[in-house]
Amino acid sequence: MFVKVLCFVVLLKCVVAVGESQNQATTRQRYSGYNVNNVNQNDYISKIFGTVTGLQSSSHDINQKLDEIDNKVSRIDSETRNGFASLKNVVGHETPSATLNHVKREIEAMRLDLMSTTHKRQADASSSEPDCSEKLTAIATLLTSTRSAIAGIQRDFMSFSTNMSQLLALSSDIHKRQHLLPTKQYLNNVVHATTSPHQRIPPVYGILNNPPRLGSSCFHISQLSSSVTGDIEIQRIQVPTIPEPFFVLCDHETQDGGWTVVQQRIDGTINFNRNWLEYKNGFGNIAGEFFIGLDKLHAMTTSALCELLIVMEDFENNTRYAKYSAFAIAGEREDYAMNLLGGYDGTAGDSLSFSASYKFSTFDNDNDGWVEGNCAQAHTGAWWFNACEMSNLNGQYLGGNEGTGKISANNQFQGIYWNTFNGPNYSLKSVKMMIRPVAERTNFYSNLD
Ligand SMILES: *[C@@H]1O[C@H](CO)[C@@H](O)[C@H](O)[C@H]1NC(C)=O
Ligand SMILES: *[C@@H]1O[C@H](CO)[C@@H](O)[C@H](O)[C@H]1NC(C)=O
Ligand SMILES: *[C@@H]1O[C@H](CO)[C@@H](O)[C@H](O)[C@H]1NC(C)=O
Repeated sequence: MFVKVLCFVVLLKCVVAVGESQNQATTRQRYSGYNVNNVNQNDYISKIFGTVTGLQSSSHDINQKLDEIDNKVSRIDSETRNGFASLKNVVGHETPSATLNHVKREIEAMRLDLMSTTHKRQADASSSEPDCSEKLTAIATLLTSTRSAIAGIQRDFMSFSTNMSQLLALSSDIHKRQHLLPTKQYLNNVVHATTSPHQRIPPVYGILNNPPRLGSSCFHISQLSSSVTGDIEIQRIQVPTIPEPFFVLCDHETQDGGWTVVQQRIDGTINFNRNWLEYKNGFGNIAGEFFIGLDKLHAMTTSALCELLIVMEDFENNTRYAKYSAFAIAGEREDYAMNLLGGYDGTAGDSLSFSASYKFSTFDNDNDGWVEGNCAQAHTGAWWFNACEMSNLNGQYLGGNEGTGKISANNQFQGIYWNTFNGPNYSLKSVKMMIRPVAERTNFYSNLD
C-alpha cells in the first residue's frame, strides 16, 4: 500500500517536471521575443539552443523514470498478490483483484500517455534537429537583416526629419514672400495693359492676394504705437474694400488721436469748386489742402463704424469743434448719401444734421433737396445738400482779406462756413474733417445717442 502511494507521487512529480521545463522554455522565448531589439542575437540563439538541449535531457530523464515506474509497478504487482488478504480488509466489499486491476489500468493509462508524449518529443527532438538548427540559422539571418533594416529606417528617418525642417523653413520663407507673387488676375491686367497702349500697368500691390500688412486707418496705425512718429503725419493705409493702399494724413494729437483726415482747408491754395468725378476720386495735396475722395470715404466709413470730428478755426484764432458719434456715406450708386450721422457733441454747434440722409451734389451732378435750383452751383460748393445747407465746408476759400473772415453780401453761403460758428457771411480760416473707427473703441450702440 505505502509503495503504491509513493509511486503515484513519483509519477505526478514526473508530469509536473515535464510541464515545467516546457513552460520555462516558452517563457524564455517569449521574453526574448519582446526584447529582440536590445538583446544580443547570439545570446538569444544560445538560449534557444539551451532550451532544446534541456528538452532532450528531460525526455531522457522521463524515460529513465518511466523504466523505474515499470519496475515498481511490476514489484507492486507481485507484492500486492502477496498482501492480498490484508488488502481485502481495507477495501471492503470490492474484490481485491478488481481494485488491483483498476489501479493497474489507471497506472497503465498514465504510463501509455506519458510514453507517447515522451516518444513524440524524442522523435521531434532527434528527427528535427537538423531542421531546428537550419531554422535557428534562418532566424539569426532574419534578425541580422531586420536589425540592419531598422538601422536603415533610422538613418532615413533622421535624413527625413532634416529634410522636413529644411522644408518647413523654406515654406515659411515662401509664405513670407508670397505677397510678392502676382496673381493670375494681375498678369491678365498686365497683358491687357501691354496690348492697349493707353492703359497703364496696374501697380503690383493693387492685386496682391496677400498685401503687406498695413493699418486700415490712422487709429489702427496708432495702435501699432511703434509706427507713429509724430502728432500729425502721413501714413499709408489699406482699406479692405479698396485694393490699393493709399496715403492719408493722420492726426494723433487732437482728441486722443487716431484720426484719419478726410478733408482739409488751410490757406486756399487748392480750388474746391470741382466736378463729380474729382470729388469721387479725391483731389489736392494730402500734406496741405485736399479732399480724400468719396469712394475712399465710403470704403473707410463702411469698413468700420466711424465717428466724425470737424475742427474749425476762424481768423481770430478761435477753434471750435463738432463731433458726431457715427458717420458713414453710401456708395456711388446712391450718390454717396450721408446715410449715417450720429449724435452731435462739441463747441461749434450742430450745422450738419440738416444734411443727414441727403445725397452728395456737385455743380455738374445735382442730387440736392432744392427742386427748383442747384445748391452746388448757387453756393459754389460740393456737399450733402438739402435745400440747401447749414454748412458748406467745401465752399470757396474767401476769408483772409485784411486778416478777416468776413465776406461780402453777394458771397453769402459761398465761403467755407458753419452756420453755428460765425454764420454764412463768414469764410473760416481752417477746417479739418476727420474720421476714426469707433466699433473697436467703444460700444457702438451706446455711441449713437
Ligand atoms: C533628403 O534630401 C536629400 C537631398 O536634399 C535627398 O537626397 C534625400 O533622399 C532626402 N531624404 C529623404 C528621406 O527624403
Ligand atoms: C493767430 O495766430 C497766429 C499764429 O499762430 C498769429 O500770428 C496771429 O497774430 C493770431 N491772430 C490773432 C487775431 O490773435
Ligand atoms: C448775411 O449777410 C446778408 C447780406 O448782408 C444778410 O442779409 C444776412 O442777414 C446775413 N446773415 C446772417 C446770418 O447774419
